[in-house]
Amino acid sequence: MERLQKVIAASGVTSRRKAEELIISGKVRVNGNVVKELGTKVAGDDIVEVDGATISRDNAKVYFLLNKPRGVITSVSDDKDRPVVIDYINTDKRIYPVGRLDYDTTGLVILTNDGELANILMHPSNNIEKTYIAKIEGILNKDDVDRLKSGILIDDRKVNVVRFKIKEKNYEKSTSLIEITIVEGRNHIVKRLFEELRKPVIRLTRVGIAFLTTEGLKSGEYRELSIKEVKKLYSLK
Ligand code: URA
Repeated sequence: MERLQKVIAASGVTSRRKAEELIISGKVRVNGNVVKELGTKVAGDDIVEVDGATISRDNAKVYFLLNKPRGVITSVSDDKDRPVVIDYINTDKRIYPVGRLDYDTTGLVILTNDGELANILMHPSNNIEKTYIAKIEGILNKDDVDRLKSGILIDDRKVNVVRFKIKEKNYEKSTSLIEITIVEGRNHIVKRLFEELRKPVIRLTRVGIAFLTTEGLKSGEYRELSIKEVKKLYSLK
């Protein structure tokens, strides 16, 4: 027997906290009956419905690494019917993306139905490194380099740049290619960082999440993570 909110969260439909809210607000049924008590325990063969939909009790965990193309939403669905990352993965499990890449950003996204690992990867205290290659307008000057080294304030909070490398300078076109590694996940953070330096991002790709890279993955391709890789990700906690 397991607690209802845990069973709902484990199915991947929502977080445990949201599951508790759903239970309290009467949106959850067990074997057809509304259950509003948080402590309720359910057995493996009890049928649990959330908002009228039966949840999957098969909680075998799956892990995918996708190289997201441009023009794809990092979400499980889109109200404007644009392509979403889930469309690229062949699975019957209810997976969801861990973190978010912008519509026009390409590169690595992890998708899983393992909420625990998703939390480890998203939690700021675990300092999970994300590496991007940004094509920017202009050439970084000494002041820009110093600011990137000392950390740039965005919304009164410093973005800690773990490391960066100028990979290419094109003086003719006045563009540069910068590889930059950061540990945080605020929305549009890389674009905002270069916006601060008045060197807007023209193109952005995420090429690394911790030790995972795009190696062997063309745009739109994905692979399953190995058990060893999953264990290694867990160990980053
Ligand atoms: N930073 C951005 O600006 N965009 C992304 O998609 C990811 C990080």
